[in-house]
Amino acid sequence: MTSSLRRLFVGPIIHSKSLNELEVIPHAAISVFKGRIEFIRYDVIDKHEQEYEQIVTLKKGQFLIPGFIDTHTHAPQYVNCGLGLDMQLLDWLNSYTFPAESRFKDVEFAKKVYNKCVSHHLKNGTTTALYFGTIHSEACVALGEIAKQKGQRAFIGKVNMDRMAPDYYIEKTQESLKETESFINKINGIDGCVLIRPIVTPRFVVSCTSELLEGLGELVKKHQVAVQSHVSENQGEVKLVSQQHPECPSYTHVYHDYGLMTEKTVMAHGVFLSDSELDLFSKTRSSISHCPLSNFSLGSGVCDVQRALSKGVNVSIGTDVSGGYAASMINACRTTLIASQSAKFNVTHDYKDTDGMINRIKKEEQQETKYKELGLSQVFYMATMGGAKSVGLQDTVGNFCVGKEFDALLVDVEDQDGPIDAFIDDYEYLYGEGHEEKKKILDLFQRFMFCGDDRNIKNVYVRGDKVL
Ligand code: GUN
Ligand code: FE
Repeated sequence: MTSSLRRLFVGPIIHSKSLNELEVIPHAAISVFKGRIEFIRYDVIDKHEQEYEQIVTLKKGQFLIPGFIDTHTHAPQYVNCGLGLDMQLLDWLNSYTFPAESRFKDVEFAKKVYNKCVSHHLKNGTTTALYFGTIHSEACVALGEIAKQKGQRAFIGKVNMDRMAPDYYIEKTQESLKETESFINKINGIDGCVLIRPIVTPRFVVSCTSELLEGLGELVKKHQVAVQSHVSENQGEVKLVSQQHPECPSYTHVYHDYGLMTEKTVMAHGVFLSDSELDLFSKTRSSISHCPLSNFSLGSGVCDVQRALSKGVNVSIGTDVSGGYAASMINACRTTLIASQSAKFNVTHDYKDTDGMINRIKKEEQQETKYKELGLSQVFYMATMGGAKSVGLQDTVGNFCVGKEFDALLVDVEDQDGPIDAFIDDYEYLYGEGHEEKKKILDLFQRFMFCGDDRNIKNVYVRGDKVL
């Protein structure tokens, strides 16, 4: 229920204007009416208090940022967080994931887990989540209802899989398609697609026949829905797909051939994409969900995000619970930076003693200057605007603009019980006099992104409503 209160938020805000531009406004005022941003002022205003039913004035150490958009997480796998992360993808799926997901046939069990899962993602500042469910449509509808009840914006996917899966967790092709169409209609009916929407979810090419992919492509066209899946995550997986589809030049081309690469398609991982696959992403305006914690945990590889960005591909960020062991988007952001720092070492180093030490270092320097790591501004864009863009919500959420819906987090780095020692009162002593206020706010933001956790997220707003 979107409140018809007019609310004013007064204090510092930080948001992305573009991939390379993080805007910091130390004394902003944002007026929110019926869930939308009515105006933003860049200076202190005379508050016409009588016009507002609530005025939220931020305290020292607090600031507002847009809510995070987690573009890849598996709701049922919340039960498995932290398990089996010394394995590789295909073994991990068979040992941990498929057995656990098969339990979601039991709707009561599913509701218990989904209640906790949605609350946990919200607590970590995820205002929009792209959820994979399981093959069980009734349990997936329950996930949509729970997200609605808790006030989260969510894309809900009923997983499709009709081959290369254990016999206790597999579907028949036509039933899978029939169930998916009725699922789309049920999810559309939850709130008329205000906050809760369906998303077509073939698990990955390995576990979907061509007939199933073709049928899903037709449903996407008919119902104009978003798509999510996995692509090129692990070498063993890519090898399997190349054997299953010798007619296709690449993994991504399989999805494309069946009408599943659209401007509302989000493919997780993309660690081993070729140049022509990245071109296909760019041409179809499909997005990658970068899941670095999962890529490191399951030993999949290091995805070179800069390479995708330089080809004009939109990249967002996913936690990939439970290939990634944490549902925290700030954790996913810092792991994105680490992955980017390490991607520059992807090059093979051809050292010979006979080159001499100085020449070896020179060679290294040449390599490194060629590579530009991601910065925090770009990563924050990916975690907010990149996510919004990936599912066609770029005019709805992702940053603070007049007319957009207000999905926001009130962050507090001064929380006594929290993990951050920000030494705000000692700022001048530590860093010298005369710092601009913007710089101070930016430093607090960095503290949060690197040292913070859910204890620093005081309030969560979705469509203007305080949901936590
Ligand atoms: N590929 C197919 N299924 C999965 C899954 O559940 N998690 C991850 N990380 N990759 C997958
Ligand atoms: Fe995944």
